[in-house]
Amino acid sequence: MSPFVFVIFGATGDLARNKLFPALFKLFKNGQLGDPVRQASFDKTQDKQGKQFYIIGFARRPFTNEEFRKLIGEMVHPDDQNAWGEFIQNIYYQQGLFDQEKGYLQLIEKLNTFDQEVGACITRVFYLATQPDNYETILGFLQSTKLSEGCGQGSSKWTRVAIEKPFGKDLKTAQMLDKKLATIFDEKQIFRVDHYLGKETVQNMIAFRFANGIFEPVWNNKYIDHVQVTWDEKEGIKDRGDFFDGVGILRDVAQNHLMQLVAAVSMEQPKSFSKEDVRDARAGAIKAIECINPEDVSSAVVRGQYEGYRHEKDVSPDSTTETFAAMKFFVNTPRFTGVPFYVRAGKKMAQNLVEINIVFIQTCHILFKEYGCPEIGNVLKIRIQPDEGIGMRVIAKRPGGKVALETVDMKFSYEDEFGVKVNDAYEKVLMDILSGDQMLFNRSDELESSWEFITKILQGWSREAGSGSARKNESPLYVYKQGTWGPAEANELIGKDGRKWL
Ligand code: BG6
Repeated sequence: MSPFVFVIFGATGDLARNKLFPALFKLFKNGQLGDPVRQASFDKTQDKQGKQFYIIGFARRPFTNEEFRKLIGEMVHPDDQNAWGEFIQNIYYQQGLFDQEKGYLQLIEKLNTFDQEVGACITRVFYLATQPDNYETILGFLQSTKLSEGCGQGSSKWTRVAIEKPFGKDLKTAQMLDKKLATIFDEKQIFRVDHYLGKETVQNMIAFRFANGIFEPVWNNKYIDHVQVTWDEKEGIKDRGDFFDGVGILRDVAQNHLMQLVAAVSMEQPKSFSKEDVRDARAGAIKAIECINPEDVSSAVVRGQYEGYRHEKDVSPDSTTETFAAMKFFVNTPRFTGVPFYVRAGKKMAQNLVEINIVFIQTCHILFKEYGCPEIGNVLKIRIQPDEGIGMRVIAKRPGGKVALETVDMKFSYEDEFGVKVNDAYEKVLMDILSGDQMLFNRSDELESSWEFITKILQGWSREAGSGSARKNESPLYVYKQGTWGPAEANELIGKDGRKWL
């Protein structure tokens, strides 16, 4: 890998602390970032002693490099002190306010020094891991200070920008943000992150569906009764109240992670396994998700908030932000016409669980009606996390003289089968940014379609909030107990179709 510098805006924030630094450290330990002090010069005759990689944390508070390294160490709790000691030699700190030029100008000096040490223009990655409100401001300064252009004239190919979700607040703001990005960077330099695309289990869905000939013939409305997607977290919002209270679960995970999980189920076979073909297939799938009209939102979407949420740190005491949402919608393709998708996501739930269940049409009764068929027959369970794997529920005859039918599970577990724990998705995300591979990053059209869908729901909810509206109770906010599966109304949502959550 060519030498690079990775600039993290929001370097002391939740994402940097919990995901980016741990992932970078793991890559370092695996030798994937190169030798930290290897002579990285392209021109060996100049005897430059630059490093193979540099990481710069950019944040508001004043720290020396040493202080910042210590702080990050306390946050990350590295499992290998020797390796950590080597790793942090490559970490630097740049103090700066996002809305003031000074920090950016000092950043340029640091970057120039690194280029000189290495003896070449090294790849610069700007990772925006801040609150989304800061994106426009930071992008503005990357442009005005010419940081976006990299070292030397017209060498913008050496810079990349990674931008975290939520990408905007609704369709309009997402479009504006995208427009801004396009005035500064070429598309090939832009990495719109959704780390769920980097999850091993999500990547595997393309392989599972299209490499195994036995599933494709039944992957359609002739055989599939309905699809369920569950995204549950036991944790609440932890110390992220200032972020979450202005965002809610719909924007936080549904607009991005859940839409991508649905797309992984519903997409058509990509023309090839190339970046654009895979992105085309994903974009087509998200575009085909039928929007719920704002006036139908109250019957198709359930909105919940966990008990005690309003007492969380940095949350408004009368907040109506949702920490749970469940919805029913359709995917408008010949393959999936008429197949309902039931999707739910929540914080402070009974369990940590991200799972897709493809429920097949029950045919057991054709032959075995009088012996009693299990209520639900074949289900393909795709466990995204934890205990990553795939299971197939089938009906079997219970051993014995009488005919009695039961469901049993056939299972594949990543850990048992491959003997390794799956990597954190951010390791994949970061490696792909560094190698310039955009396959597992959002394209604008994917984001536009998912925002269109989510914005309609938000509009439906704000109808209810509108002052003096006659529809005051249309989309109520149901309070649910912590450690449960969300409000009872979510069960009714699926129950009124004669089905239940698995
Ligand atoms: C993030 C959300 O995108 O994903 C968080 O902002 C959520 O609210 C997190 O907790 C979950 O990620 P993972 O990889 O732990 O499933």
